[in-house]
Amino acid sequence: MANLVIVLDFGAQYNQLIARRIREAEVFCEVLPGDTPASRIRERDPKAIVLSGGPSSVFEPGAPTMDPEIFGLGVPVLGICYGMQLMAKLLDGRVEPAQGREYGRTDMVRAGESPLLKGISERSTVWMSHGDYVTAPPPGFQVLAETPNTPIAAMGNPKKNLWAVQYHPEVHHTPEGMELFRNFLYRIAGLAPDWKPDNFLATAVEQVRREVGDGRALVALSGGVDSAVAAAIAREAIGDRLTAVLIDHGLLRAGEVEEVRAAFPDIDFRVMNARDVFYEALRGVTDPEQKRKIIGREFIRAFERMQEEIGPREVLIQGTVYPDVIESGGKGAQTIKSHHNVGGLPEDIAFRVVEPLRWLFKDEVRRVGEALGLPAALVWRQPFPGPGLAVRIIGEVTPAKVETLRQADLVVRQEIKQAGMERSIWQAFAVLLDIRSVGVMGDARTYGLPVVIRAVESMDGMTADWVRLPYELLDRMAGRIVSEVQDVNRVVYDITSKPPGTIEWE
Ligand code: XMP
Repeated sequence: MANLVIVLDFGAQYNQLIARRIREAEVFCEVLPGDTPASRIRERDPKAIVLSGGPSSVFEPGAPTMDPEIFGLGVPVLGICYGMQLMAKLLDGRVEPAQGREYGRTDMVRAGESPLLKGISERSTVWMSHGDYVTAPPPGFQVLAETPNTPIAAMGNPKKNLWAVQYHPEVHHTPEGMELFRNFLYRIAGLAPDWKPDNFLATAVEQVRREVGDGRALVALSGGVDSAVAAAIAREAIGDRLTAVLIDHGLLRAGEVEEVRAAFPDIDFRVMNARDVFYEALRGVTDPEQKRKIIGREFIRAFERMQEEIGPREVLIQGTVYPDVIESGGKGAQTIKSHHNVGGLPEDIAFRVVEPLRWLFKDEVRRVGEALGLPAALVWRQPFPGPGLAVRIIGEVTPAKVETLRQADLVVRQEIKQAGMERSIWQAFAVLLDIRSVGVMGDARTYGLPVVIRAVESMDGMTADWVRLPYELLDRMAGRIVSEVQDVNRVVYDITSKPPGTIEWE
């Protein structure tokens, strides 16, 4: 990979955001653990290195550190927040606890000219979030900017090509943050914006072609964007030597199977109807974790049965995307994994696994999907959990309840689409509760089920805010659900963010 930038991760909540901004500047980058040795970094031959922020203080015992030899590789380095403090500490500057934790927007004033802050306003707004700061720059460094509470908001050593900022250029609250990244990447590191979906596509198709050779490959479609784009790349690469399989566990949304099938008219596409098996296994089960486990287990069994049915395939194409790769390498990965693993594949599969999307973020996957000509409805589909509608039905899952929820969910999705909000909202869906309440319809008493509408905004699903949907839109949804969906007589709106709530109800 030419023109690689490496982001060293010191545990920042925003480290994925740094990688995303660099990709937005159309430069390819990878995130590696903060303690990666200089020798390994040299092997990768990066053209620039970014040190991320992190929650620790450099004074804490056991705080993450880095190989100081990295500063001597002759590669431009940009330290951000904790990355700046680490740079100062390791290069003999002075770091001290700030008077108070500085958090939020503040005004930064530039001091003199530098390639790092070129073109950024003399006075600009930046986002700070730190407990320590640098009070004396290391020898050879100049102070490039200050804020009322931070005497060194930016510093640089042009001779050694080492640069650092105390603020967070990667967050939206720093309006000129992108300018800083462009300066660092283009001006300082001399990189060109050459990471584009089209270039990526050609490489990915070539990779799949090479890996599969004369063999045949299998792709498991889930109805989601990632697996569909991976399948489309594989179709470009090996055409009719690809078999796509969709396991229908009976917990998919309305129209899902048909939509995915329609997107792939020209390959060997098989739908495995395993609904009855899943419904039977879920009968009488009300505990959320148990439901997830049962679905995970049955998914693997269905996959194995399907394998027996269609015979051997050498390669399995998977739609693993970059956040999955970063998460599984990082700390705290456990909780995320056990949550998201449902719908995973058997561990002892006899395939070689090829993951053409493992370097891409979701928005990049979507751009590639568009470049491949996949239908917009599929490319812009909102995330959907592996265990499907089962985690949106509180209590026992029955075919009747699935049908009720499917209809209510369709209304929510249709109305969101009608309102033109489908792309700006992370997820919008319906949840079915297992209590009943009294209502009145056409002079008659009803005793029906409530449906919950849930709509959230999120960057990555890790945190989320409930969407302030217009009242008129909520009103239309509620009216349609109660009149169109049998046995539902009440609609409520979930106004819980994450944390403390989760996005899904189970
Ligand atoms: P929660 O409910 O934990 O969900 O706030 C965060 C995001 O992850 C999706 N989700 C899943 N995706 N398998 C998946 O592939 C799962 O088991 C799973 N559980 C939740 C959820 O839809 C949201 O986008």
